[in-house]
Amino acid sequence: MSGTTETGGQTFSPPEVIAAGANVGPEVYEEAAADRLAFWAKQAGRLSWDRQWDEVLDWSNPPFAKWFVGGKLNVAYNCVDRHVEAGHGDQVAYHWEGEPGDTRTITYAQLKDEVSQAANALTELGVNAGDRVAIYMPMIPETVISMLACARIGAVHMVVFGGFSADALASRLDDAGAVLVITADGGYRRGAASALKPAVDDAVSRSPGVRNVVVVKRTGEDVEWAEGRDLWWDDVVGRQSTEHTCEFFDAEHPLYIMYTSGTTAKPKGILHTSGGYLTQVSFTHWASFDLKPDTDVFWTAADVGWVTGHSYIVYGPLSNRATSVMYEGTPETPHRGRWWEIVQKYGVTILYTAPTVIRTFMKWGEDVPAGFDLSTLRVLGSVGEPINPEAWLWYHRHIGGGRCPIVDTWWQTETGGHMINPLPGVTSLVPGSAQVPFPGISAKVVDDEGNELSDDSTGLLVLTEPWPSMLRTIWGDDDRYVDTYWSRFGKNVYFAGDGAKKDADGNIWLLGRVDDVMNVSGHRISTTEVESSLVGHPTVAEAAVVGASDPTTGQGIVAFVILRGDAVDSGDELVQTLKTHVAKDIGPIAKPRQIMVVQELPKTRSGKIMRRLLRDIAENRELGDVTTLTDSSVMNLIKEKLPAAPSED
Ligand code: PRX
Repeated sequence: MSGTTETGGQTFSPPEVIAAGANVGPEVYEEAAADRLAFWAKQAGRLSWDRQWDEVLDWSNPPFAKWFVGGKLNVAYNCVDRHVEAGHGDQVAYHWEGEPGDTRTITYAQLKDEVSQAANALTELGVNAGDRVAIYMPMIPETVISMLACARIGAVHMVVFGGFSADALASRLDDAGAVLVITADGGYRRGAASALKPAVDDAVSRSPGVRNVVVVKRTGEDVEWAEGRDLWWDDVVGRQSTEHTCEFFDAEHPLYIMYTSGTTAKPKGILHTSGGYLTQVSFTHWASFDLKPDTDVFWTAADVGWVTGHSYIVYGPLSNRATSVMYEGTPETPHRGRWWEIVQKYGVTILYTAPTVIRTFMKWGEDVPAGFDLSTLRVLGSVGEPINPEAWLWYHRHIGGGRCPIVDTWWQTETGGHMINPLPGVTSLVPGSAQVPFPGISAKVVDDEGNELSDDSTGLLVLTEPWPSMLRTIWGDDDRYVDTYWSRFGKNVYFAGDGAKKDADGNIWLLGRVDDVMNVSGHRISTTEVESSLVGHPTVAEAAVVGASDPTTGQGIVAFVILRGDAVDSGDELVQTLKTHVAKDIGPIAKPRQIMVVQELPKTRSGKIMRRLLRDIAENRELGDVTTLTDSSVMNLIKEKLPAAPSED
């Protein structure tokens, strides 16, 4: 059944079959509103605790929160052992599918054995609770096993996306003070082996704190070997006992660090801890997707190297005893129907992915999914950026067969878990809007002074109450934590960095970042990070970077550079050199879509670059107000230099 919104858009009521048996019904909102802390305490009770907490929340020193104070648990035990102890050892935890077509099926009992072996290996290598372990891996089971092994012994994992460069890895190893790196010889991407070990060798040569590198054999390609430092996973893990008695840690014991872009060039190490994080990712995974552990086959099609993978490939699904699919490769390898083939093969019932991929599938055409049996799907999810209604409707019709609710989930690396999203058995869906705060979450739209706006207004998104899976700080930089998130509206209000609109029905629509952070294919990249990479090249004197709308990736990176006096403008050749330079410096995801060499940049009288005007240029729009420029002829100069069409590659 469907209806319309006040603004005339179509809405979709929860399908009867889902509403009738949903894990949560409409009463969940009232329950949470009546007593937020009791509500979260109840959800914490879904986990197994070695020691009950004394206090649900200590917010006496905002913005430094402590959840489930005094409680003790082991995150890995909650994700693995307790399901085996309850008699579910034979249930599949992961159907893993390698890009070349090789597969592995891992039950909860096998996962328990392998995590125990890896935990024993880490201990043998001298890794202690609180030590940081970097994980730089392809999407293979050992990645998850490594994360859980760290959690099991209380070591703090730091997964660095395998697409990041050696430089990016080195700066993270250094910032976190990692003592060990777990990696692989390589992984498979787009039909070919893609090496990882050389980047680790390069990064570790600059990180004296790293004592050992454990290497999983995945591609079998030759690797350089540092005797005494490097160890094969099969040797050091393979010979360990499958028995490991776990220790219990404080609810606030650090679980992991995940680096994300901010408004400066230095990425922020977002710190997540144990009890509150697991409580919220577990409950949101169960409620947002209506996860039924006995019958669902759940698939988050994202990389474990991002927070989506941490929360909804690893910790959420495992804590709920889900059976998940994990896929190593890209959607078009070896053909454009690969994802749909996987859905058909494993009978996937819940699929969670990003709008940028959906738009790519739209470009490839509906005939591709139509060639596969997708009838097992019952719930779809979206994450990473606003999903435009056109993509929403396409996803609904051509993937969901018109019967699957789409749960559009707004959240961030910092929030750890879902914060604003509809519930599949409860909410009438409005395509394009993330809709309402999750039960127990307080999200508001405010003006520049922090006053809450009434419905039908546009402003800034804030979170006005602490939540269990919130970041606890920026690793090693409490001041930056306070400044970045808790200074604009005081120490009790979290500023998310997103613009938002509340429509006349009270639904929240996310409008993208209001700071200098771009969102490219659902990944955050800071303009400053790309600018500092560009000015690090010997030919570049000055650079300004903006995110311009892109029909597939959400935003594309557009850079304007001024060359040094002695640099030769070789046209396309120079542009290619600079693109490659950024890709090497940061990683291929940060490679600019377009680079324009200009003589001047538009600046205000105080010397600030007017990105707004550059964005107008990048998007081929009429220029906005130029009266605050020192020299308004600059814009004409830039426009004269523009190529007829953006150079894409
Ligand atoms: O701008 C919002 C956008 O992605 C940012 C968070 O990025 P990251 O920490 O990399 O986490 C991505 C996966 C959780 C947000 O500040 N964003 C994420 N999900 C949505 C979204 N924007 C609109 N709708 C969403 N569903």
